[in-house]
Amino acid sequence: DWQMSSFVETTIEALREKIGKGRVLCALSGGVDSSVAAVLLSKAVGKQLTCVFVDHGLLRKDEGDEVEAIFGPNGNYELNFIRVNAKDRFYKKLEGEEDPERKRKIIGEEFIRVFEEEAKKIGAVDFLAQGTIYPDVIESGLGKSAVIKSHHNVGGLPDYVDFKEIVEPLRMLFKDEVRQAGLELGIPEYLVFRQPFPGPGLGVRIVGDITAEKVRIVQDADAIFREEVDAAVKDKRIKIAPNQYFAALSNMRSVGVMGDFRTYDYAVVLRAVCTSDFMTADCTEIPFEVLQRCMNRIINEVKGVNRVMWDLTSKPPGTIELL
Ligand code: XMP
Repeated sequence: DWQMSSFVETTIEALREKIGKGRVLCALSGGVDSSVAAVLLSKAVGKQLTCVFVDHGLLRKDEGDEVEAIFGPNGNYELNFIRVNAKDRFYKKLEGEEDPERKRKIIGEEFIRVFEEEAKKIGAVDFLAQGTIYPDVIESGLGKSAVIKSHHNVGGLPDYVDFKEIVEPLRMLFKDEVRQAGLELGIPEYLVFRQPFPGPGLGVRIVGDITAEKVRIVQDADAIFREEVDAAVKDKRIKIAPNQYFAALSNMRSVGVMGDFRTYDYAVVLRAVCTSDFMTADCTEIPFEVLQRCMNRIINEVKGVNRVMWDLTSKPPGTIELL
Protein backbone atom coordinates (compact mmCIF):
# COMPACT_ATOMS: atom_id res chain seq x y z
CA ASP A 1 0.00 0.00 0.00
CA TRP A 2 1.75 3.11 -1.28
CA GLN A 3 -0.01 5.60 1.00
CA MET A 4 0.78 3.61 4.10
CA SER A 5 4.42 3.07 3.24
CA SER A 6 4.72 6.79 2.77
CA PHE A 7 2.90 7.37 6.09
CA VAL A 8 5.36 5.05 7.80
CA GLU A 9 8.37 6.75 6.25
CA THR A 10 7.24 10.30 6.91
CA THR A 11 6.17 9.48 10.45
CA ILE A 12 9.50 7.88 11.33
CA GLU A 13 11.28 10.94 9.93
CA ALA A 14 8.99 13.32 11.81
CA LEU A 15 9.41 11.38 15.07
CA ARG A 16 13.19 11.49 14.70
CA GLU A 17 13.08 15.20 14.20
CA LYS A 18 10.72 15.87 17.07
CA ILE A 19 12.41 13.57 19.58
CA GLY A 20 16.04 14.33 18.73
CA LYS A 21 18.17 12.81 21.46
CA GLY A 22 15.24 12.75 23.90
CA ARG A 23 14.01 9.79 25.91
CA VAL A 24 10.59 8.29 25.27
CA LEU A 25 8.34 6.22 27.52
CA CYS A 26 5.49 4.15 26.12
CA ALA A 27 2.85 1.99 27.79
CA LEU A 28 2.56 -1.16 25.73
CA SER A 29 -0.47 -3.43 26.03
CA GLY A 30 0.19 -5.73 23.10
CA GLY A 31 -2.94 -4.42 21.41
CA VAL A 32 -2.60 -3.23 17.85
CA ASP A 33 -2.55 0.52 18.57
CA SER A 34 0.14 0.61 21.22
CA SER A 35 2.14 -2.01 19.32
CA VAL A 36 2.18 -0.02 16.09
CA ALA A 37 3.04 3.15 18.00
CA ALA A 38 5.90 1.35 19.76
CA VAL A 39 7.33 -0.10 16.54
CA LEU A 40 7.21 3.27 14.77
CA LEU A 41 9.05 4.82 17.69
CA SER A 42 11.59 2.02 17.90
CA LYS A 43 12.36 2.41 14.19
CA ALA A 44 12.70 6.15 14.73
CA VAL A 45 14.75 6.35 17.93
CA GLY A 46 15.69 2.78 18.91
CA LYS A 47 16.96 2.47 22.45
CA GLN A 48 15.87 5.96 23.38
CA LEU A 49 12.46 4.28 23.73
CA THR A 50 11.41 2.33 26.81
CA CYS A 51 8.20 0.31 26.68
CA VAL A 52 6.50 -0.76 29.87
CA PHE A 53 4.21 -3.75 29.60
CA VAL A 54 2.11 -4.38 32.70
CA ASP A 55 0.97 -7.98 33.03
CA HIS A 56 -1.97 -7.66 35.42
CA GLY A 57 -2.70 -11.37 35.47
CA LEU A 58 -5.96 -10.81 33.60
CA LEU A 59 -4.60 -11.34 30.11
CA ARG A 60 -5.56 -14.14 27.78
CA LYS A 61 -3.74 -17.45 27.99
CA ASP A 62 -0.01 -17.05 27.18
CA GLU A 63 -0.55 -13.46 26.08
CA GLY A 64 2.15 -12.01 28.33
CA ASP A 65 4.75 -14.37 26.87
CA GLU A 66 3.61 -13.62 23.33
CA VAL A 67 4.03 -9.88 23.84
CA GLU A 68 7.43 -10.44 25.39
CA ALA A 69 8.48 -12.71 22.51
CA ILE A 70 7.82 -9.91 20.02
CA PHE A 71 9.01 -6.86 21.93
CA GLY A 72 11.40 -8.32 24.48
CA PRO A 73 15.18 -8.76 24.18
CA ASN A 74 14.81 -11.84 21.95
CA GLY A 75 12.18 -10.19 19.79
CA ASN A 76 12.18 -8.36 16.51
CA TYR A 77 12.78 -4.80 17.58
CA GLU A 78 15.38 -2.65 19.16
CA LEU A 79 13.92 -0.99 22.24
CA ASN A 80 14.08 -1.21 26.00
CA PHE A 81 11.30 -3.53 27.11
CA ILE A 82 10.14 -3.83 30.69
CA ARG A 83 7.59 -6.48 31.62
CA VAL A 84 6.07 -6.03 35.04
CA ASN A 85 4.55 -9.21 36.40
CA ALA A 86 2.02 -7.67 38.72
CA LYS A 87 -0.65 -10.33 38.96
CA ASP A 88 -0.27 -10.97 42.67
CA ARG A 89 -0.86 -7.38 43.61
CA PHE A 90 -3.87 -7.11 41.27
CA TYR A 91 -5.44 -10.28 42.66
CA LYS A 92 -4.82 -9.06 46.18
CA LYS A 93 -6.46 -5.70 45.51
CA LEU A 94 -9.41 -7.41 43.84
CA GLU A 95 -9.89 -10.02 46.54
CA GLY A 96 -13.55 -10.49 47.43
CA GLU A 97 -14.74 -7.60 45.23
CA GLU A 98 -17.91 -8.45 43.32
CA ASP A 99 -19.10 -5.08 42.07
CA PRO A 100 -18.34 -4.62 38.34
CA GLU A 101 -17.61 -0.89 38.47
CA ARG A 102 -15.45 -1.20 41.57
CA LYS A 103 -13.53 -4.02 39.89
CA ARG A 104 -12.90 -1.77 36.88
CA LYS A 105 -11.78 1.08 39.13
CA ILE A 106 -9.42 -1.13 41.11
CA ILE A 107 -7.81 -2.54 37.97
CA GLY A 108 -7.49 0.89 36.35
CA GLU A 109 -6.01 2.51 39.44
CA GLU A 110 -3.60 -0.32 40.18
CA PHE A 111 -2.49 -0.24 36.58
CA ILE A 112 -1.61 3.42 36.86
CA ARG A 113 0.18 2.84 40.15
CA VAL A 114 2.33 0.08 38.68
CA PHE A 115 3.09 2.17 35.63
CA GLU A 116 3.96 5.14 37.78
CA GLU A 117 6.39 3.09 39.88
CA GLU A 118 8.18 1.90 36.76
CA ALA A 119 8.28 5.40 35.36
CA LYS A 120 9.86 6.63 38.60
CA LYS A 121 12.58 4.00 38.32
CA ILE A 122 13.31 5.16 34.79
CA GLY A 123 13.43 8.77 35.92
CA ALA A 124 12.56 11.87 33.96
CA VAL A 125 11.69 11.26 30.33
CA ASP A 126 11.16 13.80 27.60
CA PHE A 127 8.20 12.24 25.86
CA LEU A 128 5.29 10.05 26.83
CA ALA A 129 4.08 8.08 23.80
CA GLN A 130 0.49 6.98 23.38
CA GLY A 131 -1.31 4.86 20.80
CA THR A 132 -4.23 7.27 20.55
CA ILE A 133 -6.02 6.89 17.22
CA TYR A 134 -8.41 9.25 15.45
CA PRO A 135 -11.67 7.78 16.83
CA ASP A 136 -10.26 8.18 20.39
CA VAL A 137 -9.59 11.83 19.63
CA ILE A 138 -13.14 12.42 18.45
CA GLU A 139 -14.72 10.42 21.24
CA SER A 140 -12.96 12.29 24.02
CA GLY A 141 -13.87 15.59 22.38
CA LEU A 142 -17.57 14.79 22.28
CA GLY A 143 -17.93 13.91 25.94
CA LYS A 144 -20.20 10.98 26.56
CA SER A 145 -23.66 11.69 27.93
CA ALA A 146 -23.96 8.73 30.25
CA VAL A 147 -21.21 6.54 31.61
CA ILE A 148 -22.27 2.96 31.11
CA LYS A 149 -18.89 1.56 31.98
CA SER A 150 -15.76 3.30 33.12
CA HIS A 151 -13.23 2.47 30.44
CA HIS A 152 -9.69 1.61 31.14
CA ASN A 153 -7.31 2.04 28.27
CA VAL A 154 -3.53 2.12 28.18
CA GLY A 155 -3.90 5.02 25.78
CA GLY A 156 -5.46 7.03 28.58
CA LEU A 157 -2.34 7.60 30.64
CA PRO A 158 -1.56 10.29 32.94
CA ASP A 159 0.16 13.47 33.84
CA TYR A 160 1.59 12.04 37.08
CA VAL A 161 4.50 10.66 35.11
CA ASP A 162 7.38 13.08 34.81
CA PHE A 163 7.58 14.00 31.13
CA LYS A 164 7.67 17.11 28.99
CA GLU A 165 5.54 16.31 25.99
CA ILE A 166 3.16 13.74 24.54
CA VAL A 167 3.74 12.02 21.21
CA GLU A 168 0.81 10.36 19.48
CA PRO A 169 1.97 9.10 16.08
CA LEU A 170 -1.39 7.46 15.23
CA ARG A 171 -3.58 10.46 16.01
CA MET A 172 -4.73 10.87 12.42
CA LEU A 173 -5.40 7.21 11.64
CA PHE A 174 -8.50 5.04 11.62
CA LYS A 175 -8.25 1.47 12.88
CA ASP A 176 -7.91 -0.11 9.43
CA GLU A 177 -5.10 2.32 8.63
CA VAL A 178 -3.35 1.41 11.87
CA ARG A 179 -3.52 -2.24 10.81
CA GLN A 180 -2.12 -1.36 7.37
CA ALA A 181 0.73 0.52 9.01
CA GLY A 182 1.31 -2.49 11.27
CA LEU A 183 1.64 -4.82 8.27
CA GLU A 184 3.91 -2.31 6.55
CA LEU A 185 6.13 -2.37 9.64
CA GLY A 186 6.33 -6.16 9.62
CA ILE A 187 4.33 -6.74 12.79
CA PRO A 188 3.00 -10.34 12.86
CA GLU A 189 -0.46 -10.69 11.33
CA TYR A 190 -1.99 -12.40 14.33
CA LEU A 191 -1.16 -9.31 16.34
CA VAL A 192 -2.26 -6.83 13.66
CA PHE A 193 -5.65 -8.49 13.21
CA ARG A 194 -6.25 -9.36 16.81
CA GLN A 195 -9.77 -8.91 18.06
CA PRO A 196 -10.28 -6.07 20.55
CA PHE A 197 -9.44 -6.91 24.14
CA PRO A 198 -10.55 -4.63 26.97
CA GLY A 199 -8.03 -2.86 29.20
CA PRO A 200 -9.36 -4.52 32.40
CA GLY A 201 -8.97 -7.82 30.56
CA LEU A 202 -10.58 -10.93 32.01
CA GLY A 203 -11.67 -8.78 34.94
CA VAL A 204 -14.76 -7.87 32.88
CA ARG A 205 -15.30 -11.47 31.82
CA ILE A 206 -15.46 -13.01 35.26
CA VAL A 207 -18.76 -12.38 36.99
CA GLY A 208 -18.43 -12.03 40.75
CA ASP A 209 -15.17 -12.03 42.65
CA ILE A 210 -11.91 -12.76 40.88
CA THR A 211 -9.68 -15.60 41.99
CA ALA A 212 -6.61 -17.21 40.43
CA GLU A 213 -8.67 -20.35 39.84
CA LYS A 214 -11.40 -18.48 37.96
CA VAL A 215 -8.77 -16.73 35.84
CA ARG A 216 -7.20 -20.08 34.99
CA ILE A 217 -10.62 -21.51 34.01
CA VAL A 218 -11.60 -18.61 31.78
CA GLN A 219 -8.14 -18.47 30.14
CA ASP A 220 -8.18 -22.16 29.27
CA ALA A 221 -11.81 -22.17 28.08
CA ASP A 222 -11.22 -19.03 26.02
CA ALA A 223 -8.11 -20.46 24.36
CA ILE A 224 -10.10 -23.54 23.28
CA PHE A 225 -13.03 -21.47 22.01
CA ARG A 226 -10.81 -19.09 20.03
CA GLU A 227 -8.84 -21.98 18.55
CA GLU A 228 -12.03 -23.67 17.34
CA VAL A 229 -13.62 -20.46 16.03
CA ASP A 230 -10.40 -19.44 14.26
CA ALA A 231 -10.34 -22.84 12.57
CA ALA A 232 -14.00 -22.44 11.54
CA VAL A 233 -13.33 -18.92 10.18
CA LYS A 234 -10.56 -20.37 7.99
CA ASP A 235 -12.79 -23.23 6.83
CA LYS A 236 -14.14 -22.17 3.42
CA ARG A 237 -17.25 -24.34 3.78
CA ILE A 238 -18.41 -22.35 6.78
CA LYS A 239 -19.11 -18.66 6.38
CA ILE A 240 -18.67 -16.89 9.67
CA ALA A 241 -16.86 -13.67 10.50
CA PRO A 242 -17.36 -12.69 14.13
CA ASN A 243 -15.67 -9.45 15.21
CA GLN A 244 -15.30 -10.46 18.82
CA TYR A 245 -15.56 -13.90 20.39
CA PHE A 246 -14.50 -15.14 23.76
CA ALA A 247 -15.29 -17.24 26.79
CA ALA A 248 -16.42 -15.70 30.03
CA LEU A 249 -17.13 -17.14 33.44
CA SER A 250 -20.55 -16.91 34.99
CA ASN A 251 -20.52 -16.98 38.72
CA MET A 252 -22.90 -19.91 38.65
CA ARG A 253 -22.04 -23.36 39.79
CA SER A 254 -24.37 -26.22 39.06
CA VAL A 255 -24.65 -29.94 39.54
CA GLY A 256 -23.41 -32.37 36.94
CA VAL A 257 -22.21 -35.91 36.63
CA MET A 258 -18.77 -37.04 35.56
CA GLY A 259 -18.22 -40.79 35.42
CA ASP A 260 -19.71 -42.08 38.65
CA PHE A 261 -19.35 -38.82 40.46
CA ARG A 262 -21.54 -35.85 41.13
CA THR A 263 -19.89 -32.55 40.30
CA TYR A 264 -20.68 -29.03 41.43
CA ASP A 265 -18.69 -26.79 39.12
CA TYR A 266 -18.66 -23.53 37.18
CA ALA A 267 -20.55 -22.67 34.00
CA VAL A 268 -18.56 -21.14 31.15
CA VAL A 269 -20.29 -18.68 28.82
CA LEU A 270 -19.35 -18.54 25.15
CA ARG A 271 -20.07 -15.36 23.21
CA ALA A 272 -19.49 -14.25 19.62
CA VAL A 273 -20.73 -11.01 18.10
CA CYS A 274 -20.74 -9.16 14.81
CA THR A 275 -20.56 -5.41 14.96
CA SER A 276 -19.43 -2.51 12.83
CA ASP A 277 -18.85 0.07 15.56
CA PHE A 278 -19.03 -1.84 18.88
CA MET A 279 -21.91 0.46 19.93
CA THR A 280 -24.43 -2.13 18.80
CA ALA A 281 -23.79 -5.79 18.13
CA ASP A 282 -25.55 -8.97 17.12
CA CYS A 283 -24.90 -12.46 18.26
CA THR A 284 -23.13 -14.37 15.46
CA GLU A 285 -24.32 -17.75 14.34
CA ILE A 286 -21.64 -20.35 14.99
CA PRO A 287 -22.32 -23.81 13.54
CA PHE A 288 -23.79 -26.12 16.13
CA GLU A 289 -21.09 -28.74 15.57
CA VAL A 290 -18.40 -26.17 16.35
CA LEU A 291 -20.19 -25.17 19.55
CA GLN A 292 -20.57 -28.79 20.55
CA ARG A 293 -16.90 -29.47 19.96
CA CYS A 294 -16.07 -26.49 22.16
CA MET A 295 -18.41 -27.74 24.87
CA ASN A 296 -16.85 -31.21 24.83
CA ARG A 297 -13.30 -29.92 24.83
CA ILE A 298 -13.89 -27.33 27.54
CA ILE A 299 -15.55 -29.78 29.90
CA ASN A 300 -12.91 -32.45 29.27
CA GLU A 301 -9.87 -30.20 29.27
CA VAL A 302 -10.68 -27.51 31.80
CA LYS A 303 -10.88 -28.63 35.39
CA GLY A 304 -13.63 -26.95 37.39
CA VAL A 305 -16.16 -26.63 34.56
CA ASN A 306 -19.18 -28.89 34.10
CA ARG A 307 -21.47 -26.73 31.97
CA VAL A 308 -21.10 -24.54 28.88
CA MET A 309 -23.67 -21.94 27.87
CA TRP A 310 -24.11 -19.92 24.67
CA ASP A 311 -24.88 -16.22 25.03
CA LEU A 312 -27.52 -15.19 22.49
CA THR A 313 -27.87 -11.60 23.63
CA SER A 314 -27.43 -8.68 21.25
CA LYS A 315 -26.27 -5.20 22.24
CA PRO A 316 -28.47 -3.55 23.34
CA PRO A 317 -29.87 -4.84 25.64
CA GLY A 318 -26.65 -6.66 26.54
CA THR A 319 -23.17 -5.20 26.27
CA ILE A 320 -20.42 -7.08 24.49
CA GLU A 321 -18.46 -7.81 27.63
CA LEU A 322 -20.32 -9.33 30.58
CA LEU A 323 -19.36 -6.51 32.94
P1 XMP B 1 -19.13 -3.19 25.77
O1 XMP B 1 -18.95 -4.31 26.75
O2 XMP B 1 -19.20 -1.85 26.42
O3 XMP B 1 -17.80 -3.18 24.89
O4 XMP B 1 -20.26 -3.43 24.82
C1 XMP B 1 -17.64 -2.46 23.70
C2 XMP B 1 -16.22 -2.68 23.19
O5 XMP B 1 -15.31 -2.04 24.06
C3 XMP B 1 -14.43 -3.00 24.65
N1 XMP B 1 -14.25 -2.61 26.05
C4 XMP B 1 -13.16 -1.97 26.51
N2 XMP B 1 -12.02 -1.60 25.90
N3 XMP B 1 -11.21 -0.71 27.92
C5 XMP B 1 -11.04 -0.98 26.62
O6 XMP B 1 -9.98 -0.65 26.08
C6 XMP B 1 -12.33 -1.04 28.62
O7 XMP B 1 -12.44 -0.76 29.82
C7 XMP B 1 -13.35 -1.71 27.87
N4 XMP B 1 -14.57 -2.20 28.20
C8 XMP B 1 -15.10 -2.74 27.07
C9 XMP B 1 -15.12 -4.33 24.49
O8 XMP B 1 -14.18 -5.40 24.46
C10 XMP B 1 -15.83 -4.14 23.18
O9 XMP B 1 -14.95 -4.33 22.08
